[in-house]
Amino acid sequence: MQRAESGPAERIRRRRRLVGIGVAVLVLVLLGVVVAVAVTLSLRGNTRTFKETFVARCEDFNGTDCEKIWGLFEEAYVGRDPCKVPVAAYGPLIAAAPFPPKCNQRIFWSKTKAVVHDFTKKRKCFETVEDTLLGSVLDGQTWCGKEGSNETFATGCPGWTDCETSAVRSFWNGASAAFADAACGDVTVMLNGAVATPFYNKSVFATIEVPRFRSPKVRSLKVVLVTQENSLTSCENESLKDLQRKLDGGITYSCKAVPEAQINDCIPDPEKGCPVCW
Ligand SMILES: *[C@@H]1O[C@H](CO)[C@@H](O)[C@H](O)[C@H]1NC(C)=O
Ligand SMILES: *[C@@H]1O[C@H](CO)[C@@H](O)[C@H](O)[C@H]1NC(C)=O
Ligand SMILES: *[C@@H]1O[C@H](CO)[C@@H](O)[C@H](O)[C@H]1NC(C)=O
Ligand SMILES: *[C@@H]1O[C@H](CO)[C@@H](O)[C@H](O)[C@H]1NC(C)=O
Repeated sequence: MQRAESGPAERIRRRRRLVGIGVAVLVLVLLGVVVAVAVTLSLRGNTRTFKETFVARCEDFNGTDCEKIWGLFEEAYVGRDPCKVPVAAYGPLIAAAPFPPKCNQRIFWSKTKAVVHDFTKKRKCFETVEDTLLGSVLDGQTWCGKEGSNETFATGCPGWTDCETSAVRSFWNGASAAFADAACGDVTVMLNGAVATPFYNKSVFATIEVPRFRSPKVRSLKVVLVTQENSLTSCENESLKDLQRKLDGGITYSCKAVPEAQINDCIPDPEKGCPVCW
């Protein structure tokens, strides 16, 4: 027999070769598993992080059924062309997490996002739409679905300017309308004195929010025109006259230019509650 005749040196060499091949196969298999796991995780990563962020932010609002809110949110855009999500698709979501009327505490903004949020986070006296449950879970996020898919995508989605009825834009249009509908009493808006047109007539504030302020539910609108040292615009600017003309008759209008530093330095007075910062 051939086998019996091979010498000990030949046998050792053959065994070594076999062990070598075995180790190489094992390494390749392990490598394959590692790559497969990494790819799966990174593919899922986007969706998971988006939903996790949504739910984590939602849970800051006590007593909310965040899985239910997530489910209603998904229903609005999942399986749809990301540019064809009507505002009405978010109706059930907004109905499940409505904006309760908060008189005298609603603050709107246009081109002043950073300063207004810095202000409302430090002092709970005023609330922007992004400080509410629905506003906060989606602030700064992008999302969409895809036809024929039941997944949520958080990247590669059309944003605000890409189409009129993108998943993102329709949500904010619907949420802003509901938020403005719930405004009452004295309403405040922070506009930007460093731009040429603080009341920009294509903004969400001009097109969606202002038309929903109705007298006598809304008593007054106070414009806080946030200024820098070299600000372009004052309360006399024609665009602000435009705003005044567009307001429902009976709503008292006022405007005050306030330096940004004064807004940043405004400290709440524990005795008086909400401070008067302007
Ligand atoms: C509700 O939220 C507040 C903070 O906003 C927290 O201090 C409080 O413990 C929460 N209550 C419950 C019942 O979770
Ligand atoms: C999405 O589709 C997959 C496969 O088609 C299915 O297993 C899963 O249950 C679906 N998920 C939802 C939330 O409908
Ligand atoms: C928008 O503003 C421009 C320039 O200020 C003005 O000419 C135009 O009439 C305004 N449009 C509307 C719909 O108010
Ligand atoms: C004031 O508003 C008008 C539009 O209503 C704008 O065209 C103009 O540039 C603004 N003025 C200044 C000084 O920025």
